[in-house]
Amino acid sequence: MTSLPMTSLNGKKIIVVGGSSGIGFGVAAAALESGAEVVIAGRSAEKLKAAEKRLGGAGRVTGIAADMANEAEVSGLFEQAGAFDHLVATAGTPPPNHPIGETDMDFVRRFVDGKLIGAVMLAKHAVRTLNKAGSMIFTSGINKDRPPVPGGSVVSAVAGSFTYFARALALELAPTRVNIVSPGWVDTEMWDEIVGTAKSGYFEQMGARLPAGKIARPADIAPAYLYLMQNEFMTGETIHIDGGQRLV
Ligand SMILES: NC(=O)c1ccc[n+]([C@@H]2O[C@H](COP(=O)([O-])OP(=O)(O)OC[C@H]3O[C@@H](n4cnc5c(N)ncnc54)[C@H](OP(=O)(O)O)[C@@H]3O)[C@@H](O)[C@H]2O)c1
Repeated sequence: MTSLPMTSLNGKKIIVVGGSSGIGFGVAAAALESGAEVVIAGRSAEKLKAAEKRLGGAGRVTGIAADMANEAEVSGLFEQAGAFDHLVATAGTPPPNHPIGETDMDFVRRFVDGKLIGAVMLAKHAVRTLNKAGSMIFTSGINKDRPPVPGGSVVSAVAGSFTYFARALALELAPTRVNIVSPGWVDTEMWDEIVGTAKSGYFEQMGARLPAGKIARPADIAPAYLYLMQNEFMTGETIHIDGGQRLV
């Protein structure tokens, strides 16, 4: 019996949009450990510098400042990064959470621009320099399966759309593979922004409910992204990695 070939990340170049923090930082760290060269992108040059320092990586990490809601900056990111093998997009900002009757439309538009339109722009400009044998991985999340009530409709719709974005793009871009990672709650800087010091209480309660018995750290989620980069038979798929959160 022959084993399924899992390609090595040695010598591969990976662009992680959102790599200066949270889940993306975890993916960047795991990819570096697996021998890859990593480009991290985000809006804040300062955050990128700090992340580059924390990642170490012996010259294999480059930070490039770019806002994925800005097409000229997205185009510039890929021009600067050059030819590469895998695109990972984890970038995102806290979602709108108002009851539908109190929806702040400017907030919703900014959120959709940053997350969904941003993903379309990343895909549009990545195809020029992405190795055709490589892959794209975008990030959705548990909010599509367990929407917060009230206020979860927009984030649920946006997160849910990624599954179908990947299915269509996987056909259009084949043999380039396109997949989605859908995490449950992950202990990242985004939670500090959303709930501040209440975070530990939220996590304790949710951790006790989860079959996995705890909230994930970015390092628990990163292997799902590495698997999707390395397994050449995975495409058009959404991997749920949520500690069983969809079951409770
Ligand atoms: N944490 C969770 O529990 C969880 C669960 C399910 C799904 N998710 C999803 O996973 C994604 C990442 O979440 P996280 O918790 O890792 O967040 P995080 O720690 O706040 O990190 C977000 C990253 O995205 C970058 N970013 C944000 N907006 C950007 C933009 N317009 N252009 C370029 N970069 C941008 C940020 O850098 P700058 O601020 O410098 O741009 C940062 O590097 C989000 O979409 C989130 O909805 C998170």
